[in-house]
Amino acid sequence: MTAGGNRGFDARVAHPARVYDYWLGGKDNFEADRVAGEATIAAYPAIRASAQANRAFLARAVRFLAAEAGIRQFLDIGTGLPTANNTHEVAQSVAPESRIVYVDNDPLVLSHARALLTSRPEGVTDYLDADLRDPDRILELAADTLDFSQPVAIMLLAILHYIPDLDQARRIVARLVSAVPSGSYLVISHAASDISPEEMAEMIRRMNEHLAEGNHVGRPREVVTGFFDGLDLVEPGVVKVTEWRPVSAVEAEGPTSLWGGVGRKP
Ligand SMILES: C[S@@+](CC[C@H](N)C(=O)[O-])C[C@H]1O[C@@H](n2cnc3c(N)ncnc32)[C@H](O)[C@@H]1O
Repeated sequence: MTAGGNRGFDARVAHPARVYDYWLGGKDNFEADRVAGEATIAAYPAIRASAQANRAFLARAVRFLAAEAGIRQFLDIGTGLPTANNTHEVAQSVAPESRIVYVDNDPLVLSHARALLTSRPEGVTDYLDADLRDPDRILELAADTLDFSQPVAIMLLAILHYIPDLDQARRIVARLVSAVPSGSYLVISHAASDISPEEMAEMIRRMNEHLAEGNHVGRPREVVTGFFDGLDLVEPGVVKVTEWRPVSAVEAEGPTSLWGGVGRKP
């Protein structure tokens, strides 16, 4: 389904989804994305491990939501290119009836959306070609698949750092949270400006040189925590994504440049 907001398909310019795919060792990227990927790796060599750690956080958070919090509806905005442990696979491995709406504005993600639409028969997955900067449109279209009178997990993983205007980012989060009932959850991971700050600043500067819109920003932990205002943070709060309910000490000690957290709407 198309909801506008597409930046158009241009393989000559790096796009966030494809650079991220390169960091993760994927094959769905072009020369411009690989050049951006190598330039950013040279500035912050741990970025590959950090991207993997973010995917592992996604899987642990979705498993927590499905298995412990009883969530059966997920709105995953900034989905990225299909990879291992996509949201619906993790959620439906716990609860096959889970309903998932994916949203991204990258045309290459749209062209790979088939791989995200492999729902278990008991559940549903849908894909919206839409832009986070238009949350009303996302909510309107997602209502075809999700029941907004029942709890929903809103997932904003490694996407809010592409909204450089902090007030706009806060308004978007507040609008999305306002649309879901008590018992819903918000999951965020976000590039940090206060973890390995010098390397990260250089990594982000290089990323912005290569992106079409040059709009990637890191934020400090207290600002990322502020996105959860009005919600009850689930333990252990906003921490390095590696430290959010890690399955092992090795996982907890791995490198990362992202803050992550999960909050419950009271
Ligand atoms: C770094 S990837 C993260 C993928 C996935 N959420 C994860 O954490 O593994 C960021 C994704 O957000 C998407 N994105 C960036 N800005 C967006 C916007 N304004 N609206 C919708 N999607 C956006 C990109 O196309 C990309 O797929």
